[in-house]
Parts: sequence; C-alpha cells; structure tokens
Amino acid sequence: MDFTEFKQEVNRHFGLYLDGYKEPQLKRRIESLMSSLKVEDYKTYFNLLVRDNQQWQRFIDKITINVTEFFRNPEIFLRLEKEILPTLIKRHKYLKVWSAACADGSEPYSLAILLDELAPGGNHRIDATDIDINALEKAKKGIYNQRAVQSVTTSRLKNYFRQENDTFYLNEKIKGMVKFYRKDLLKDHFGSGYHLIVCRNVVIYFTAPTQEKLYRRFFQALAPGGFLFIGATESLFQYKEIGFEKYAPWFYYRP
Ligand SMILES: C[S@@+](CC[C@H](N)C(=O)[O-])C[C@H]1O[C@@H](n2cnc3c(N)ncnc32)[C@H](O)[C@@H]1O
Repeated sequence: MDFTEFKQEVNRHFGLYLDGYKEPQLKRRIESLMSSLKVEDYKTYFNLLVRDNQQWQRFIDKITINVTEFFRNPEIFLRLEKEILPTLIKRHKYLKVWSAACADGSEPYSLAILLDELAPGGNHRIDATDIDINALEKAKKGIYNQRAVQSVTTSRLKNYFRQENDTFYLNEKIKGMVKFYRKDLLKDHFGSGYHLIVCRNVVIYFTAPTQEKLYRRFFQALAPGGFLFIGATESLFQYKEIGFEKYAPWFYYRP
C-alpha cells in the first residue's frame, strides 16, 4: 500500500478525507507516528488504526492540531468587538454566528463573551463545529488552563470564570450560548444565513484548491452583509473572484 492508497483506505473506512490536506506536512506527521510505533509500512499501520481505537485517536490528534486560546490575537479581536459586532447588532436583532474548526471551544466562547457584553440577554445563536470529537467534548466542559486564558482581561476573568488554583471554569451562562457539533469542513453540509463566520488556523493545513472551495462555500453560507474572519497567518487572495469585499485585514464580507 502506498501513501495514496493509505489515504483512500482511511477515507473509505473512517470517512476522513485526507486528500484535502497539504501532503508534505501530512506525510511527515503520519510517518512520525509510524516511526514512534516502529511500523514501517502503510498497510500495517492502516490495519493497526482499524483494530486499535487508541491509535486511531492518536492519529486524529496528530492530524488535527488543536492549538488555540481565548481571544487568539487579541488586537484583531478588538476590531470584532469595536466595529464588526456593533455593526451587526445594530442591523439584526439576533445574530447567527459560526465558529468553524472551534477546537476546545476557546474561540466560540470568546465570541459569546463579546456578545454578552455588547448585547446582554440577546437570543443569539453561536454554532461551533470541529472534526475532532475529543476537542468537542473538552469544549462542552468549559474547563481551561492558564495558557488558554492568557489573553483574557482581568475583568473578563472575574466576570466569566471561576478560578481554582491554575484551573479556570467558564460560567454556565456563556457555556449555554454555544452549541457544539461535529462537522468535517471537507465533507459535510454547511448551514446558511450566518452573519459572522470565524474560520481561523485550519485552512493553512489544506491544499490551495481545497482552500478556495472552502472559501466559496463560506461565501454561500453567509447572509448578505455577513462577515468572514480568517486566521492571522492566512490570506484570501481570490476574494474578489469569489464575490467577497475586503473590510480590513483578516475580515471579508459578502455584499
Ligand atoms: C489549530 S486549531 C484552530 C482552532 C481555532 N479556530 C483557533 O484559531 O484558535 C485547528 C482545528 O481544526 C480542526 N480541523 C482539522 N481538520 C478539520 C476538518 N477537515 N474539518 C473540521 N475541523 C478540522 C482540528 O480538529 C482543530 O481543532
């Protein structure tokens, strides 16, 4: 079995579409897992993944990379807080927001905190999705370490978390504002009518054609006037062809 066949088998058996990921990085990660297990060929490794759920979870963890934190790049979140969300709140009674590839929930919960501050009691809907069920389970618990909350201001820490030693428990009100679902961005259906879609630090792992396809699908999922917020190391070169207008660095909108 070569690498292409391995990817096909993983897709067929587990429904994970690896062809959308950049091959050199993906291969490096998979081969490092194989070498840690002293497995030398893809067939043996694939059979192991089928047999051993623990190895499959390790595989998923390695492919997905769950690094995240609350208000990641706080200076960029400021634009969301000061300009974009206030504009959207003026236009719509209820906002429909999607954090796509939400990892452990730090990102959608940051959005929930902002909405709670800007429009308290508003009946907004925040969908948060990720491919990784372990990350989603962690997200639902809402329990974080010091590192995850390093960019949270002292007053927000006080208002929205309960601290016990180095552990931070998010309050129930904010937890209740976010609905978590499993969704593979490369395969699953997208909703529609979103006023804000946040998709940060995941498309960098995808090939260029996959990225473009994904941005087209986000465009379709946005309501007219809705914004797309992308990662600080990402750029959307083909935004005009897709139909987006650029609002500011890392923010695009559907006219
Ligand atoms: C680096 S984290 C980004 C988290 C957050 N958006 C942020 O910027 O802090 C990348 C996330 O993408 C998820 N992911 C990877 N491939 C995915 C796919 N095909 N569909 C949905 N989520 C995926 C991973 O499970 C991981 O939680």
